[in-house]
Amino acid sequence: MSTHKPLVLSGMQPTNTLHLGNYLGALKNWVRMQEEMPCLFCVVDMHAITADAGYGKPEELARATREVAAAYIAGGVDVSRTPIFNQGQVPEHAELSWIFNCVARLGWMDRMTQFKEKSGKHKERSSVGLYTYPVLMAADILVYKATHVPVGEDQKQHLELARDIAGKFNNDYNAPDFFPQPEPVITGTGTRVMSLRDGTKKMSKSDESDASRINLTDTAEAIADKIRRAKTDPHPLPGSKDELKERPEAENLLNIYAALADQDRDAVIAEFAGQQFSGFKNKLADLTVAKLEPMAKEMRRLLADPAEIDRILKAGAHKARAIATPIIDDVKKKVGFIA
Ligand code: TRP
Repeated sequence: MSTHKPLVLSGMQPTNTLHLGNYLGALKNWVRMQEEMPCLFCVVDMHAITADAGYGKPEELARATREVAAAYIAGGVDVSRTPIFNQGQVPEHAELSWIFNCVARLGWMDRMTQFKEKSGKHKERSSVGLYTYPVLMAADILVYKATHVPVGEDQKQHLELARDIAGKFNNDYNAPDFFPQPEPVITGTGTRVMSLRDGTKKMSKSDESDASRINLTDTAEAIADKIRRAKTDPHPLPGSKDELKERPEAENLLNIYAALADQDRDAVIAEFAGQQFSGFKNKLADLTVAKLEPMAKEMRRLLADPAEIDRILKAGAHKARAIATPIIDDVKKKVGFIA
């Protein structure tokens, strides 16, 4: 029986710009979770420097960190009760990460599929940080003894690693139930947002084609234009879920509509059954603009005052450290570090 108080922790990487998939697949759920449990949301700048996108580009990293923070706030994270902060400002993440590097086994790390994907053909040229990335992620979670971690499907394996690390630490230091076994809360299964150019690929910040994604900071014109140009098939919209199977682009656009409208997907299918894409796309464009435009406006307002964002991140880091400090002190004592 676990005695740990419910606490949510999640994070996003500050690399490139955020898009509709980040909002519908993650942020929107985080905002809802604030109503259910205490939450902490970080911008994982330390993870961002594990790969080329964030390494060696200080201005770009700082800009992207502020942009993610602005998206959290504009998307509905209430900073008066939910701390938001950048990882680099809370040294306890790095401290615990080192200890966890000594808990995790090479055999566990060698199984991580995301490292294999990200390192590609040139494993020997990847940073060591990219390899131990999932260990830092475990530290992000466990340095607060967080119990619930909203993540996408692709992060499930990293969560399993966090559970293994927690279990081994508890066992090796004879501290049963010291760290909780954090649960993944898989978000975005109903709303996996796919590329507007190819309905079988995830909408991604690394896609070369900007037309493949709707960025949270896109103008109304750009949003409408991308939706009108989105790939479709020559048939009218289907009348049932079954007919969507071989039609990934139709499925994606209907999913986006349902998620943005907060409507059941079946209801949306019924509403547009038999219609042409052109009319549906106009409605989808209007809906997307109506939902994203206020957020984009708020993001632009926040980003115009970076000092204010920095102040919010500092205050968030301060609150986060207040939770992490006693935990890391306990960990060090258990490990045998003289204080
Ligand atoms: N690896 C996560 C991703 O790419 C980001 C992340 C880093 C994270 N630390 C975390 C997510 C802690 C949840 C909890 O999506």
